[in-house]
Amino acid sequence: QAPLNALVVGNWKMNGSLATNATLLEGLRAEAASFANITVSVCPPFPYLAHSASLLAGSAISCTAQNLCHEAAGAYTGEVAASMLAELGCRYVLAGHSERRAMFGDSSERVAAKTRMAFNAGLIPIVCVGETLAQREAGQTEATLSAQLLPSLASLSPAELDKLVLAYEPVWAIGTGHVASAEQISSVLHYLRALVASSTGQADIAQRMPVLYGGSVNPASAQWLAKMPEVSGVLVGGASLNARDFSEICRSFA
Ligand code: G3P
Repeated sequence: QAPLNALVVGNWKMNGSLATNATLLEGLRAEAASFANITVSVCPPFPYLAHSASLLAGSAISCTAQNLCHEAAGAYTGEVAASMLAELGCRYVLAGHSERRAMFGDSSERVAAKTRMAFNAGLIPIVCVGETLAQREAGQTEATLSAQLLPSLASLSPAELDKLVLAYEPVWAIGTGHVASAEQISSVLHYLRALVASSTGQADIAQRMPVLYGGSVNPASAQWLAKMPEVSGVLVGGASLNARDFSEICRSFA
C-alpha cells in the first residue's frame, strides 16, 4: 500500500536546456492526471526556474530549487536567496544534497543555516543526508547521518519541524544503478525518525515526518519502494529527465 500523500521529486541536477525542459514538462503535464493524488515537484537548474514555473502554471506540479544561500540577502556573488526562490513560486528547496556536501563545501552547519533560511522565506526544506560506502563499511552510517542532520533540527520550532521533509540518499546509490535494499532503507528510515524524536522530543511529528529515498530510483524499483510503509516518496535523479520514466515512478506512488 503506497503511503498517503506521497511526495515524488525529480532532481534534474545540472542538466537540461530551454528546449528539452519544455518537452519534458509538456510530457509530464500530459500524464499528470494519472498521479493527481500525490505531490509531484521538479528541480530545474536556477536559470530555468522561472521558465519551468511558467510552463507548469495551472498544473499541480510544483518547482523545487536545488540549493539556496545560507544568508538572506546582500553581497554574496553567485548565490541565490530563499526569498527569490519563494517569489518565483518554488514550494520546496533541497538542502545538503550529497553533491553539495562533497563538492561545494556545504557543511552540516551551513546546511542548517540554509534550512533556517528556507523556513524564514516560507519554503519547505528537503534536508538530504546519506553515508558513503566507506562510512557504511566502517559501521559509521548512523553516526554520519546524525552528524549531518542534528544541526538542521536544532533551530526549528515544532511547527517548522512538522513541515520538514528528509531525504535519505546513500552516496553509493546515487547515479550508480545500485539501489539500496529494502532492509537497508527500512533500517535507516526508522533510525532517522527515532533520531528526530529523541533530539527534539517530538515523537508524533517524527513519526509522520515525510522521509524520501533517493539513489538510482527507476520505474522498476519505484514499484517496490512505493509498497514500503516507511518510504514517504522518492527523490529521483537521472530517471526524472525522461517524462515517461518519471511519470511511471509517480504513478507507482499514486
Ligand atoms: O537527488 C537525487 C539523486 O541524487 C539521485 O540521483 O540519478 O541516482 O537517481 P539518481
